[in-house]
Amino acid sequence: MRNDNSAMLSPNPFNPGSPIDPSDFVGRMQELENFRQKLRQTEQGSLASMAVAGGYGIGKTSFLHKCKSIAEENGALSIYFSLNEMDVLNRETLARMLIERLQEKVEEEVILNRISSRILSGLKKIKITIASTMEVELKEDVESQPFPNLHSALLSAWGNLKADKKAIVFLIDEARVLERNRADLVLYLRAVLEQLQIRKIPIMVVPGGKLTISGPSGSGFSPLVRTFPPVILENFTSIESKAFIRKKLEPVKISISDEVMNKVHGVTEGHPFVLSAYMATAYSKLKQSEKEIRAEHFEAADIDFVKRVLSHFFARFLDQAGKTSKLILTEIAKNGGQITLAELSTKLNKEGNELSPYLAKLTQDGAIIRINRGEYKLFHKLLVDYILT
Ligand SMILES: Nc1ncnc2c1ncn2[C@@H]1O[C@H](COP(=O)(O)OP(=O)(O)OP(=O)(O)O)[C@@H](O)[C@H]1O
Ligand SMILES: [Mg+2]
Repeated sequence: MRNDNSAMLSPNPFNPGSPIDPSDFVGRMQELENFRQKLRQTEQGSLASMAVAGGYGIGKTSFLHKCKSIAEENGALSIYFSLNEMDVLNRETLARMLIERLQEKVEEEVILNRISSRILSGLKKIKITIASTMEVELKEDVESQPFPNLHSALLSAWGNLKADKKAIVFLIDEARVLERNRADLVLYLRAVLEQLQIRKIPIMVVPGGKLTISGPSGSGFSPLVRTFPPVILENFTSIESKAFIRKKLEPVKISISDEVMNKVHGVTEGHPFVLSAYMATAYSKLKQSEKEIRAEHFEAADIDFVKRVLSHFFARFLDQAGKTSKLILTEIAKNGGQITLAELSTKLNKEGNELSPYLAKLTQDGAIIRINRGEYKLFHKLLVDYILT
C-alpha cells in the first residue's frame, strides 16, 4: 500500500472555547482602527482610553488579545488580565493587581532581553502594602518613600520605563465587576487617569466585558462613557464569517464552497462563538480522505451541535435568569424570537415599568437585544428552539 500522507486529516482547527490567536483574528477593522487611534493619542500624552463591550461569546477576549499585540507592535508595554482571577475586588486589590501585573510583565520582558534588568530593579521597589484603612498605600522599599495612591505608583513606574516604551496599556477582561456600587471602580480608574494626564503620562486602560457603561444607548453614565468610549462588538458580517472560515480551513487544506459558507453564516447569524462551534462540529464529521467540507457534514453535525454544543452555551441564559426573566425569555421565544414591550406586558400581565429592569438585565447579559425603543429580540434565533424544548 502507498503511504499517502496527504490523506491524513489535520486536527480540528476550530476551537470555540478559546479566544482566537491574534494572528488568526479576522474583521473588526473599524473597531481596531479606533483602538490604534486611541493608542496614538495616548502615546502623545492625551487621555484616550476606551472600553470593549458585547454579549457572551461575541469576541471580547479575542479583541483584547488583538489590541495587546497591536500595542506591543507599536512600542507599548501591554498587560492583559482578567478580573475573574480576583476574589475580592476593591480599590486596594485593583491597585495592587495593576502594579503587580505591570511588574510581572516587565520581568518577562527582561527575561526575553527586551528591556534592561536595571528597569526591573527600579520597578520592584514599588511595593504595595495594604493599610488597615480603605486608603491604598503603596510604599517604596528602599528609601521608604510612600506612594499614597495608584497614580503616583504608576507615575514612578513610568519613570522607569519611559526610555524603553512609548506607553503602558492595561487590558482588563471580565470588567463588569468594576461597575458595582455605582461604578465606583470605574470612577476610581478615571480619576487615576485624569491625574496622570496632568503630567502627560501615556497610560491607557481598556476594560472589556458585558458592560453597562456601553449598554444600549442612554443606559450608560455619560461621564464614564466619555472616559471609556465603548467599542460594541456585534455579530460578524457575512464577509467576516467567510474570512474566519477560510483562515481556519486554508492551513489544513480543506475547501468549502461559497454556497455552504453562506448557509453557515445564515444559520449562525455570524455569532463568533456559534459560528466557531458549528464549524468545529462539522469538521469533526470529516473522514480521513476528505478534502472538502460540504452541506452533508453540516447536516450530520446538526443534532450534535444543537443538543450538545449549543445547549451547553445557551444554558447560561436560562440558568442565571430568575423567575421573571425566564418567563420573559419564554414569551419572546413563543412569539418567534421577537416582541414589543406592549405585547410582553399583556402576555405577562405586568406593567411595562415593572418589566423594564428585567429587560435591562437580560440585555446587559446579552440574552436579548433591544432593536428599537420598546422592542426586543433574542440574541440568536437558535435560542428560540432551545428555550421552547
Ligand atoms: N475577530 C475574531 N476572529 C476570529 N475568531 C474570533 C474573533 N472573535 C471571536 N472569535 C472566536 O469566537 C469565539 C468567542 O470568542 P471570545 O472568547 O473572544 O469571546 P468573548 O466575548 O470573550 O466570550 P465570553 O463572553 O465567553 O467571555 C472563540 O472561539 C474565538 O475564537
Ligand atoms: Mg471572554
